[in-house]
Amino acid sequence: MKIFYIDLDGTLLKKPDYNFTSTDVKALKKAQERGAKFGIASGRSHVEIDYLEREHGLTSNLTIGLNGMVVKKDQDLIISKLDQEVLDVLLKHNIEFEAQDGGNRVFSSQEEHDFIPKVLGTNMFVTRELEKFDIKKIVIRQLFNERPLDEIKGIIEGACSARYNYFCIDNKTIEIVRKDVSKGNAIKEHFSDSEVIAIGDSHNDREMILLADQGYIMRNALPELREELKGRGAIEIGDVFEAVEVEIADIKGVLFDLDGVIADTAKYHYLAWREVAKRYDIELCEGFNENLKGVSRRESLEKILGIKNIVLPEEEFKSVLKEKNELYINYLEELGEDSILPGIKEFLIDLKRSNKRVAVASASKNAPYILEKLELLKYIDYIADPGSIERGKPEPDIFLDAARGIGLKTDEVVGIEDSQAGVDALYRANMLSIGIGDLRNSLYNLESTGELLDKKTRRLIFKG
Ligand code: G6P
Ligand code: MG
Repeated sequence: MKIFYIDLDGTLLKKPDYNFTSTDVKALKKAQERGAKFGIASGRSHVEIDYLEREHGLTSNLTIGLNGMVVKKDQDLIISKLDQEVLDVLLKHNIEFEAQDGGNRVFSSQEEHDFIPKVLGTNMFVTRELEKFDIKKIVIRQLFNERPLDEIKGIIEGACSARYNYFCIDNKTIEIVRKDVSKGNAIKEHFSDSEVIAIGDSHNDREMILLADQGYIMRNALPELREELKGRGAIEIGDVFEAVEVEIADIKGVLFDLDGVIADTAKYHYLAWREVAKRYDIELCEGFNENLKGVSRRESLEKILGIKNIVLPEEEFKSVLKEKNELYINYLEELGEDSILPGIKEFLIDLKRSNKRVAVASASKNAPYILEKLELLKYIDYIADPGSIERGKPEPDIFLDAARGIGLKTDEVVGIEDSQAGVDALYRANMLSIGIGDLRNSLYNLESTGELLDKKTRRLIFKG
């Protein structure tokens, strides 16, 4: 069983307003539906976590405090045996105390918190009431006591487990803190038989991330910590849902876009269109060209002419299309091994080796020709035919056809795209996507195809 262990502040709760995002919540609910568990590992108190759960309908199966104590498991509130041991000694010897929760909030009679009078009341009440809190420290103060601190310290040290540290803070205060306090230790202690996925952003999460079977570090973490953890196997993410989706996906095939993903041919489309556009006094720029990526030849020309509201008779329109393609094919003369984008060949080899299925879903009618020229056909199981598909990207049709072509369901594939239209098509097809470049709606974006060989993609596809 997989358990997602997630820190709250800065991780699941997004800065600056510390709110859940709906994509994160959705991904976690999906993970739970598929049998995974979700736990919160946070310094926040149990009361606050309960509130967050009620607000967002996302139930934590396990809640761990900053000190590593489990405070909630499914519906049961529990208190660590060891901490109960300390409380029992204190109560038995009539030593009054105050308690702090994981978020360092102090419950004390000084603050007139309604909790403390009960703590100082009957034994029964203490046991029941304290169950609700994640006790991090027990502080004994002379405020409540006239007994010498040394005597109190002796009693506790003699009676309690060796797993505590006793600090005389000043001549009025002793603090008792568990020696093994940390989120990481708790995970090791309680969930050794499960696969733990830990996600965090701060030094408090460091150990938990390192001890997990797979750790994730948020991009907003301090650079030093981020680099250290990445060097030790953690994966960097921008959002929690990325990690959750990567972990729960069961990917059996990959759908590739061609131009700008497999082959460095997007630039030739641009050069050819620039030449064509010039004849109509239209100066194409790279920004506008982004709108042409993933878009069919016909629709591209409509968009270009639309800049000047030009409408051509069908005959002329067709001959311009032909001309553009001739220019483009001329550029393709230059195609060679070097035109395969970084990492793609190795990635295709890995996919073949792992028996993953591979399809190409490109709007280009030149796709088979390019793939043959690059000697990549042997890695590809299916090429969608854009000529037989009515609606182009951003409609989902070509990706649905590609998945069908390799016999897989929408949740068994991931698409790789360099265009916004393509990522939107995958999104509408309900498929996961990896964006190349800065795109919206993708599971995550890579700066270049070379990063397809990095750990996150490997984990998503090969689970390694
Ligand atoms: C890809 C490219 C587009 C191109 C389209 C049609 O999707 O990203 O820029 O317009 O294919 O290509 P074709 O080779 O058929 O003209
Ligand atoms: Mg493309």
